[in-house]
Amino acid sequence: MANSISFKQYIANEQRAGRVDADLAGLLNDTLGACKQISYDLSQGALMGVLGMAGSENVQGEDQKKMDVISNDVMIAANNRSGFVSGMASEEEETAYTLPADAPRGKYLLLFDPLDGSSNIDVNISVGTIFSILRAPKGVTNPADKDFLQKGTEQVCAGFVVYGQSTVLVITLGKGSHGFTLDRNIGEFILTQPNIQIPADTKEFAINASNSRFWEAPVKRYIDECLAGKSGTRDKDFNMRWVASMVAEVYRILTRGGIFMYPLDSKLKDKGGKLRLMYEANPMSLIVEQAGGASNTGRGRILDLQPTGLHQRVPVILGSRNEVERVVRYHAEG
Ligand code: AHG
Ligand code: MN
Ligand code: MN
Repeated sequence: MANSISFKQYIANEQRAGRVDADLAGLLNDTLGACKQISYDLSQGALMGVLGMAGSENVQGEDQKKMDVISNDVMIAANNRSGFVSGMASEEEETAYTLPADAPRGKYLLLFDPLDGSSNIDVNISVGTIFSILRAPKGVTNPADKDFLQKGTEQVCAGFVVYGQSTVLVITLGKGSHGFTLDRNIGEFILTQPNIQIPADTKEFAINASNSRFWEAPVKRYIDECLAGKSGTRDKDFNMRWVASMVAEVYRILTRGGIFMYPLDSKLKDKGGKLRLMYEANPMSLIVEQAGGASNTGRGRILDLQPTGLHQRVPVILGSRNEVERVVRYHAEG
């Protein structure tokens, strides 16, 4: 396509405009290089022997799939010696990852969920990679967990890649959310959805309904009203989706609207929620807000939360603004 803009060109333009520095551009190019590698490995599936369990557990007590471990290694290897980051944090690493002693240190922190939706790997349903970039505290050469505990509003950049029928990237540098599609022939992400806007209203909700007996009253009220459709208090019938890959749900919502909920429930109360704040909820919230949507725990804006732990979990309600605001209102009403 004569007028197509590759991600490399997009980021170089941002650099010329003074919105991005060379280190951030380099960090993003390296990270997307890792995502291309993960995309390739996933596309080969059983041919490359990457399906199935790794036979290990991560810090959160979850069984790791082979691709969880491979994706984590690929992300770390791509950024380890670049000089653009001074530390990394991952769902699959217990504590902040320390760079090799002789590796140059950079001004950014990279946080990631190397493979989101990993229960879907073996069944050929979309999975993805989520990342968040923060500024490293000045003068800190080996950032510890506490150095990563910055609010979501501090993110310099947030992005995710969905490995689906095509491999797509959605990214925000704080000025809108933009979508790119990987052209496998040339190995470049091409700008295909500039300035994504989430419709304010929707007729589609996504929640794991198998947890319904554990839900809090406001969530139960909202979903009951959706299910009642035109025959209840809402003036429309709703449709339901649950992919069990947050990346795929958020991409759908960015494309045609919707609401996604992994709310607090009585089963999750002690953990604080299911999804992780630092490398799932925060980056997705920034992307959704930058596309005109909303993101909330039900009791407050996710991006305003002061993190207390690298693997902290939070309730997540995000998507079309009017529906998210309705659920938040139901929480306030008790
Ligand atoms: P991960 O694979 O990184 O652990 O994350 C999976 C998350 C999220 O993507 C998805 O929305 C949710 O867990 C699915 O949970 P259920 O299996 O409870 O539906
Ligand atoms: Mn995840
Ligand atoms: Mn994961």
